[in-house]
Amino acid sequence: MTEAITIRRPDDWHLHLRDEDMLRGVLPHTARQFARAIVMPNLSPPVTTAQAAAAYRQRILKVLPQDLDFAPLMTCYLTDDTDPDDLARGYAEGVFTAAKLYPAGATTNSANGVTAIANIRRVLERMQEIGMVLCVHGEVTDPEIDIFDREAVFIERILAPLLREMPGLRVVLEHATTEQAVDYVLASGENVAATITPQHLHINRNAMLVGGMRPHAYCLPVPKREKHRLALRRAATSGSEKFFLGTDSAPHSQSAKESGCGCAGIFNAPHALESYLTVFDEEGALDRFEAFASENGPRFYRLPLNEGTVTLERAPTDVPETIDAAGTAVIPFHAGQRLGWRLRA
Ligand code: NCD
Ligand code: ZN
Repeated sequence: MTEAITIRRPDDWHLHLRDEDMLRGVLPHTARQFARAIVMPNLSPPVTTAQAAAAYRQRILKVLPQDLDFAPLMTCYLTDDTDPDDLARGYAEGVFTAAKLYPAGATTNSANGVTAIANIRRVLERMQEIGMVLCVHGEVTDPEIDIFDREAVFIERILAPLLREMPGLRVVLEHATTEQAVDYVLASGENVAATITPQHLHINRNAMLVGGMRPHAYCLPVPKREKHRLALRRAATSGSEKFFLGTDSAPHSQSAKESGCGCAGIFNAPHALESYLTVFDEEGALDRFEAFASENGPRFYRLPLNEGTVTLERAPTDVPETIDAAGTAVIPFHAGQRLGWRLRA
């Protein structure tokens, strides 16, 4: 049995760091595991300009503990009014690594998102031209569409037509949750990839709904049926370079989750690597973990692979029941459970 695995330092290609105290509280959890992360722009107000992104990056670096070496990669929150020139300039200057498409109303702080793809056609054309990556929250918001079908319908109604019109656009379908997403990404060109979260590899919708409503298992896109979880596990561990690590760690206070209208988001940052590795171990794919965690992402984003390594050993990790994020209680993914791997300090 493999007792330890050493991989090139990994990156997190989808992360919510928030701001102020929460940022200070959650950042070290990510920075002790990952060299870089694509930082989501859904603050309130959202990060919609290069200037705002540069300022947010400074706030992140300011609270980064000195002994941790971590680079935040900033994204632009697209709105109906995004200026293609500001976006392209921010990209050329290295402020933006990517831009994020939130359909308006799809998820946390997406009210200012895009109301119709037609409204950002010029922005997307420019992105295609300059090779800038578009990160997509792939869910329709049509109230007629069942929440469990919103990703599949988004692919059919929005993403597939968009990529037929702009076949060179570089797209990451974020937090893929369905068999349809996996199949679509596999059938697309090399300009289309997807991130996969640890929660969607570990849980299906029963985890949210059986034996009581479990707000800490609720995130968007919602976990789906078991067959979808199995499709995601096959995709992540397949060795395909189209799939890579993106935690979608999305901290909310315990009180905001445990409420009459609980927020969507799972805080998985504290033990993200151990959580993913558990899946690769269960699937007999330890040899494919490094590509998923440390190689496929930077290759897709055309960024250098990280130097240095991290080692995980087969040893128990007891995930705490609660994490104190600079004064706010946040319940982590796998709270109170024991994982079979431990990141060596
Ligand atoms: C995210 C958040 O809380 O910011 N929530 C979530 O359930 N994933 C937003 C998002 O990525 O959809
Ligand atoms: Zn997210």
